[in-house]
Amino acid sequence: MKHLLSTEDLSSDQAIALLDLADEMALVNEREVKKLPTLRGKTVVNLFFEDSTRTRVSFELAAKRLSADLINFSAKGSSVSKGESLKDTALTLAAGGVDAFVIRHSASGAPFNLAHNGWTNVPVVNAGDGTHEHPTQALLDAMTMRQRLHGMANTRGKNLDGVRVAIVGDILHSRVARSNLHLLKTLGADVTLVAPPTLMPRTEEFAASHSFDFDEVLAQPLDVVMMLRVQSERMNAAFFSNEREYSRNWGLTSERFEKLSSETVIMHPGPMNRGLEICSEAADSPQSAIVQQVANGISVRMAVLYSLISGEHND
Ligand code: CP
Repeated sequence: MKHLLSTEDLSSDQAIALLDLADEMALVNEREVKKLPTLRGKTVVNLFFEDSTRTRVSFELAAKRLSADLINFSAKGSSVSKGESLKDTALTLAAGGVDAFVIRHSASGAPFNLAHNGWTNVPVVNAGDGTHEHPTQALLDAMTMRQRLHGMANTRGKNLDGVRVAIVGDILHSRVARSNLHLLKTLGADVTLVAPPTLMPRTEEFAASHSFDFDEVLAQPLDVVMMLRVQSERMNAAFFSNEREYSRNWGLTSERFEKLSSETVIMHPGPMNRGLEICSEAADSPQSAIVQQVANGISVRMAVLYSLISGEHND
């Protein structure tokens, strides 16, 4: 594995190896000195053409905790505003000597272009491209599920065989849903997609159990409910009548949260629209793994950067 562009490219063994390595990185992140010398002398470029809080900060921390040098490139304030292309931006940054690119872009496929168009010869990590994929998010979600469902001390080598996951909300625009669906299937989980009919993709690629009725799905035993953000910025039409109607039908409201088993883990990739797709009682409850997901993002991204740049653990 030279690049990480899609979770579809990961075998079960590769995914589990990355998750096991992320667990080891998590031990480093618990130390007083949260630093390893492993990528000393290497340079990572964070290429962010789209806004981010969690992914950008955690890739930055991951690179720094592995002792790599880091260039944080943001399209805002750069020569992209003068019309400079992705190719020329990448060539310009690569001229300084780069060992890995991390890229977030609003165009689906931009990381694939960067990896395969001959502009650079170094590993490329997809940090979210359009509505396509967000592979490190899916890995940190799987890491969190292993910890919550198998126990913190009992994750090594484990898959997610038979784990029942409902992914709920704006599936149509969600790169998180797509990456999770591929990875969760590879790890053996049983996934149900829940969305309004207008926000449920109809492509073969999304082949999974699906429902338009959140309450019907919640009536079945579930290990994880993953709520998705309503991505208003990607909506060029009215996909539902109004926010109140969306919340009433597809939101994790207080009423639904009260009925949920106390064993069911609540997840959300963030950023959250509190009161729309998830209520604060659920988001801030002990059942919520949302903060744990963010913390795991650092460990997963350390594992990915280490694996790709060092060339170890790739198989
Ligand atoms: N989950 C996620 O990708 O969040 P950011 O957009 O803040 O990076």
